[in-house]
Amino acid sequence: MRRVGVVGHPVAHSRSPQIFGHWFDRYGIVARYDIIPVPPEEADAFFADLPADLAGVNVTVPHKETAARHVATEGAGARLGVVNTLWRDGAIVRGTSSDGTGFLASLDAGAPQWRDGTGPALIVGAGGAAIAVADALVAAGREVVLANRTFARAAEVAAKVGARAVPMADIAAALAEASLLVNTTSLGMVGSPPLALDLAPLPSAAVVTDIVYNPLQTPLLAVAAAKGHATVDGLGMLLHQATVGFEKWFGLLPEVDAALRAKVAATL
Ligand code: ATR
Repeated sequence: MRRVGVVGHPVAHSRSPQIFGHWFDRYGIVARYDIIPVPPEEADAFFADLPADLAGVNVTVPHKETAARHVATEGAGARLGVVNTLWRDGAIVRGTSSDGTGFLASLDAGAPQWRDGTGPALIVGAGGAAIAVADALVAAGREVVLANRTFARAAEVAAKVGARAVPMADIAAALAEASLLVNTTSLGMVGSPPLALDLAPLPSAAVVTDIVYNPLQTPLLAVAAAKGHATVDGLGMLLHQATVGFEKWFGLLPEVDAALRAKVAATL
């Protein structure tokens, strides 16, 4: 039986076994998706010599950079030096980061009109998720503007991916020209305060999306929807990023169907 899984620390709460289990059932694939906790001090050795019984793995915090140092990186993985999906190519282990791919696929599924937008994409935040999202949008040919509580971090990410950083104090002007607004901070998540943004300047055709998926409708998305914006919740990114590994390991691009969304949403 082919074995795949997710490597992280902590990793017990990963939803990936449920996501992959859904696709195993749907496509009749006989395989196992395991949770594989690897403490930081063992990560180098683990990725330097991926256990032979693993066909591939997903990688999550805090190992995305460590794993990237030990595999042949491609695409966003090579550009950013982080990987979350590893697969075998003969004797070689290759890796990429599927977060940006998943983000774009989720937007395409939820609000395809985002591609018609001509104004910049405005990203709030400057952590790992912001880098993946900004990189994917730049790679898709979009102008990207970053705003973050700590301006220096936004400037650093902007320089890395070929975007522009603006001070939070100037966010109203950035909103006024944006065609896409993305929250990549943890604000709005259960237990965190909402992202307090005045959306008044945002053009009505702009699409608003959040990478937070618990709750599905964050306060930001609720305000945006009430104002008439098309909105896309964060669950799609989580589900779509998983399709990349599935395709590498099992040779078929799985569908993010309503049943999968409902199953995972029920666990929130
Ligand atoms: P990840 O790598 O998962 O994206 P992270 O590196 O911790 O997580 O980034 C969290 C993001 O949320 C950062 O942009 C952070 O802003 P700072 O760079 O100023 O820390 C942002 N963030 C978290 N809590 C915030 C808050 N209360 N107000 C504003 N921004 C916040």
